[in-house]
Parts: sequence; C-alpha cells; structure tokens
Amino acid sequence: MCGIVGFVGQEQAAPILLDGLEKLEYRGYDSAGIAVLSESKGLQVKKAKGRLQVLRGLTGDGRDVEGTLGIGHTRWATHGEPSDLNSHPHLSSGHRIAVVHNGIIENYVEIREFLQSQGIPFQSETDTEVVAQLLEYYYDRCGDIMASVYRVLARIEGAYALGILCRDLPDAFIAARKDAPLLLGYGQGCSFIASDVTAIIKHTREVAYMEDGEVALVKAGGIQVFNAMGQPVEKEHHTVDWDVSAAEKGGFPHFMLKEIMEQPEAVRKTVSPRLKDGRVHFEELKLTAEDIRSFSRFFIVACGSSYHVGMVGKYNLERLLRRPVDVMLASEFRYADPLVDEHTLVIFISQSGETLDTMAALRRAKALGARTLAIVNVVGSSIAREADQVLYTWAGPEIAVATTKAYSTQLVLLDMLGLFFAQALGSVEEEEYARIVSELQALPAKMETVLADTERIKYLASRYFNHSSIFFIGRNLDYALGLEGSLKLKEISYIHSEAYAAGELKHGTISLIEKGTLVVALCCYAPLFEKSVSNIVEVKARGADILAVTTESLAAELGKTAENVLPVPDTHLLLQPSLGVLPLQIFAYYVALQRGCDIDKPRNLAKSVTVE
Ligand code: F6R
Repeated sequence: MCGIVGFVGQEQAAPILLDGLEKLEYRGYDSAGIAVLSESKGLQVKKAKGRLQVLRGLTGDGRDVEGTLGIGHTRWATHGEPSDLNSHPHLSSGHRIAVVHNGIIENYVEIREFLQSQGIPFQSETDTEVVAQLLEYYYDRCGDIMASVYRVLARIEGAYALGILCRDLPDAFIAARKDAPLLLGYGQGCSFIASDVTAIIKHTREVAYMEDGEVALVKAGGIQVFNAMGQPVEKEHHTVDWDVSAAEKGGFPHFMLKEIMEQPEAVRKTVSPRLKDGRVHFEELKLTAEDIRSFSRFFIVACGSSYHVGMVGKYNLERLLRRPVDVMLASEFRYADPLVDEHTLVIFISQSGETLDTMAALRRAKALGARTLAIVNVVGSSIAREADQVLYTWAGPEIAVATTKAYSTQLVLLDMLGLFFAQALGSVEEEEYARIVSELQALPAKMETVLADTERIKYLASRYFNHSSIFFIGRNLDYALGLEGSLKLKEISYIHSEAYAAGELKHGTISLIEKGTLVVALCCYAPLFEKSVSNIVEVKARGADILAVTTESLAAELGKTAENVLPVPDTHLLLQPSLGVLPLQIFAYYVALQRGCDIDKPRNLAKSVTVE
C-alpha cells in the first residue's frame, strides 16, 4: 500500500520521480505527490487527488518543478479520504520538512494531540502528518536533523517506510524503515530510494535492502546507512537480474494480459532450474531429509490468491505426504492459537513478500517455535528475509493488481516442494513421482496451447459480461480452483461472484440460482467427474447457464450436459489446476474489458497489502 520513491543526482528530479511513481501506481492510486528542493525555489510540494496523470498535468510532466533532489508518493488511503490535503508529501507547519510515508503510525492520535497542545496546526487527517510536524518540533529544539529523525523514530509506533526532505539539507534526503519495504538504489552520480525496484530499474540495477530500524542519508555521491543506534552499517549490494522491459507492457493493452501470456515462461523459469536428472532439487533449501521427516504436520498460511494456492496445496501435499496439512488465512492464523511446535513446518506464500497479515503470521509461527518456509516472488522482501527458508518463484515483476503469473508459479513451486518432501518421506511411488516430474516439464508447452487460442473464451465473456452474479462450483482441486476463478472475476469486473464446493451448493446457495444465472462448473478433477456432472444437472434444472472447464479427455462427455465447454490439455491430476486456471483468468480479463473496468488497477485495491 502506497509507493514511495526518492532521487538525488545531477538531473531534474521531478520527471524521474513521476516516472518512478508510474511504476509504483499498482501499490495505490488515489492520489500522488512530490516534494522537490532547489536553491532558488526552496521546498516545493505538488500533490493532487486522483491518478498520477493529474499530477503530471499539474507539473508539466515534472518539467515545471526545478531541482535535482526530491521524494514522491502514490497513495492508497488509510487515514483520511483521498483528497488533495491528505495526499503526500506532508509538510511541517514551518514548511521546512516534507515527508512521504508508506505504512501506519499507530499512535498518531496521541502525538497529534501533544503537538496541537503546543500550538502546532494540522492540515490533513492523515497519520503521516505527525511525522513531519514532530520532526520539525524536535529540529526546532536541537537543530540537528539526523538526531531529530532518531527522536521521531523512537516516539512513533507502527510500520513505516519514510522519505524525508529538509529545507536546510540541500544535497541529501533521509530514509527510514520499519515493517514496510524500502530499498536503496545506487546509480552513476545519483542515488534513489523506492518501495520496489520497478520504480528505479530504468536507472540502476544495483540495490540494497534496508532493514528494520535503519536510517539512510542519501546523497548523489553515495548513501550512508546507520542502524537503530546510529552506528554506520555496510550494506550488501545486489544486482537485479531483470531489466526495464520486464516492467513494461510490451505492446499489450494491459499488464494483466501480458502477465497471463507470460505464464508458460514464468513457470518454465520456476521449474527448470530445479529439475535435474528427473529429480526435484532445491539447492537453496537448508533442510536435511531428517529435518523433513521430523515434520509431523504442515500449515500453509497466506492471503487472497496466495491462500488459494494453499488450498490446492492442501489437497496435493496431503496426497503426496500422507501427513496433515492445514491451510489458514494469515489474518486468522496471526490471532488464532494454532497447534504448531518445532515439528511443524509452516509454509507462507506471498507474491509481494510484504503482506502485513502474512508477515505477522510468520512472526507468530516463529514465536510459537515452528519452522518456517516462505514461497515468495519479490527478492529481498520482508517475508523472504524473515522466514527460516525461502524459495523464490522467479516470476519477474508482477504489476497488474490481480495476480496471474505469481499464482501459477506459486502453484508449481508448492507441487515441487510436495514432491521433494515426499521423496524424503518415501511417501510417493517412484512411478508416480516420475510421471509428475515429466508432466511438470511438459506443463509450460501445455499452457501455451491454452493461451494460443482465446477466441472462444472472449466470445463467452461477451455473452455473459452483463450478468450481475456468477457462481463457480467444483469438487476437490476444482473447488480450490473455483475460489481463484471467482476472486479473479469479482476483483477486476466488479461482478458479484461466489465459489462453492459443488456438493455444498444445495445446502443453501442453490436458492440464488434462477433462469439464466451463469454457473462456471469446474470439472477437471477426473475422480469426481460424475459427481460434478450431477451438480451441473441440479443447477441446470433451476435454469442456470453452464460454462464448464474440463480436460480434453472429458470434454466430449461433458458436452452432453453443459452447453459451453472449455477444454484444457490433460496432465497429471495434481497439476491440472495449473491449466484449469488459465481459461478462468482470461474469462475474467475479457469480462472486465467488456465492462470498461480499469483492469490493472481495480477500485479499492492495491497490489501490496501492508495494512491489516
Ligand atoms: C488477487 C491478489 C490478492 C493477493 C493477496 C496476497 O488477485 O492478488 O488476493 O494474492 O493480496 O498478496 P501476496 O501474495 O503479495 O501476499
């Protein structure tokens, strides 16, 4: 939630900041702003409610704002509605300090009351403004901006990535981080901060990740980093292994469509390096066979689509490992009293690696003594760094708010983890193991065949796009798949949608089915095919239209019952959701397109959910 970027160098800052904010807009897009410092103009703040385009208009694409040092922000509102006043940067009342912030200052009310009692007026309803005001309050008293920053950090509670400009600091800005992502970028004669590397990849691929409690003094010639005690810290530099083209649309009308189409390649990159001589290898895992055998129980914990991956994982891992696998929403796990101990492995799944609930659940699991493993896409993200073990999905940057390629890569990685563990436990037949491995290798090509021809799905989307309610049903793995299909549809098209285990529908929800209601029936799970067909018959009897997704081998049979059948290639049963999800993503995309929705940035959502 919220994106921040900062630049100091020889070039004009504002166009660079706006460019960076454009890449961060997926994190929040209800308002945007920049603060730039220049010798002649002093501290200039430009901000506006609405998309970045509004700010671009206000600043002549940044050209009208003089100065080579600045910070910027794109907002996803938490405290205070989206408005010009609530937009960042926030200025101190003496106009000497400007602050951009991602996160939440939990004790802001108390601090605001204190500052107001000192006669300091407030402009906005945000929690962030207290940082700017408190900073100036301390600065007025001690005259040392770094010392004042440390005093502020000692006083505020909550999560923050902060970018701070001080009028009296003409050649540097300050950054600080706790529980919100922030990285440092090292360019040629220039330096950056950003919530995410996509914002600065055009200028540099050399980055360092800030740790909680660290404060950075960012100058064109270099960046000094200090720990929570104010002692200098040497940062390890990393080189990002993808370039600017990966974070651009590349001719596609939307990032979502581009990312849907990138899935075969993304899955290939996740799978191939980890398959050697027909075996799954995780060189990055520091787990012995003995460690694996010591796990009597597994949890999978995540939010949203990542949780849906966990739902598939529960079915697949239990089948492969013959050990209990619980899947739990991170927002529930963190406040529950889960039965975990040192013999439990808790697997966290997160594209961003920054989701606050997942992060909190990870800390809880660790505090309870569990072993932890994270499946993450964003390299160097908080969850990746805090988990005992991390497996990266290597899907590349995912920009569209609705996840597609991250989902698919998480799915195959979890399947591979299941195979890896099963081998150590001896819980899978050699022949079955070999078949799954061979199908994993074949998966990208099969995905390509589904994506090669999307005309029929497009046609079905044009037929059903104006429905007000759509149901997804399926059994076992198809139920888990339906959850994802339904979420994809509702989040980008705003059509009400629900996913049900097919056998459950008649226990209440079937009363909502009437003539013409669209039911998306997922029938890829062959062992329960007949049962699913019976459920299709039940809803058809109440007047439902059926759009069915099934395997090529079952398509003809299903065609006898369902009018619209979308076949996907057959694969190993466990991997079938990796193919079944593709028509659902494409259907959601074209439905949203027909409805004129803002597909890459659906209303009320943000890519990285760093609030509770
Ligand atoms: C839906 C979607 C979200 C995320 C969820 C978790 O398309 O993208 O439901 O899956 O917010 O995010 P991560 O995986 O970053 O923890």
